[in-house]
Amino acid sequence: MAKIIGGITTSHIPAIGNAMADKKENDPYWKRFFDGYEPVKAWLEEEKPDIAIIVYNDHGLNFFLNTVPTFALGCADEYHNDDEGWGIPTTASFKGDAQFSWHLAESLINQNFDLTTCQEMKVDHGCVVPMSLMWRHLPEWPCKLIPLAVNTVQHPLPSARRCYDLGKALRKAIESYPEDTKVVIFGTGGLSHQLQGERAGIIDVEFDMECMDYIVNDPDKMTAFSNTEIMEKAGTEGIEVIMWMVMRGALSPNVNVLHKHYHAPISNTGAGVLLLTDGKD
Ligand code: DHB
Ligand code: FE
Repeated sequence: MAKIIGGITTSHIPAIGNAMADKKENDPYWKRFFDGYEPVKAWLEEEKPDIAIIVYNDHGLNFFLNTVPTFALGCADEYHNDDEGWGIPTTASFKGDAQFSWHLAESLINQNFDLTTCQEMKVDHGCVVPMSLMWRHLPEWPCKLIPLAVNTVQHPLPSARRCYDLGKALRKAIESYPEDTKVVIFGTGGLSHQLQGERAGIIDVEFDMECMDYIVNDPDKMTAFSNTEIMEKAGTEGIEVIMWMVMRGALSPNVNVLHKHYHAPISNTGAGVLLLTDGKD
């Protein structure tokens, strides 16, 4: 049987991709941020997942504004990366697991999550920066990738509640896969940031802390926020935090916090990291 070994959240800021390419990890601006990932990398090294499901938003690479699915699941055996304009060097392609993806699609659709299935899907910084943060030190990607794209770009967007429920359905889907497979789920993006308009550049550290606390200890409180409330506090792109709720829904009601880190600013964004495992319910 497949099982979820843990959940990770991380920001996916493109500047991180460029910093990694330029080997700036020990520069004063970056050191504390990158140090915040070492416990997560060590845990992954120990746990050795077979599959990483990366919940991310496409920023105009695979889906442009003329066609934006609310939820889209990669159902391919291979995924290519491309730069949609931030200048991040292209990474090696990723192995997928189409058989596992189709199982997820079937289970999720049977649970009334009518998502889009993609037999071809280019993945952008939203997906690739988290993969690189965890595994760039290795000669090749150590596990397969299943990308799950959530629309956080073109309104109307799914709610935090809907994303949380998707995570719960995803857990059922994973746990009904017959082959022994260790799965780690990443919720990416956030925390507070806004890239354009009058409010651009504002980071709300207090709200970011509140979100991290709610996501760990009281996810229902997070689902009580409307998207407008989240955007008023966290900025228009801060809404990416709804993708953390997919990861959270896939874990048990109580979780163990193996690691928690926050650093602001990185570029325009409050950068948060969580490593959670199922707790005792
Ligand atoms: C930034 C953050 C993001 O999440 C993103 O997708 C693009 C840019 C930033 O802070 O620069
Ligand atoms: Fe983003």
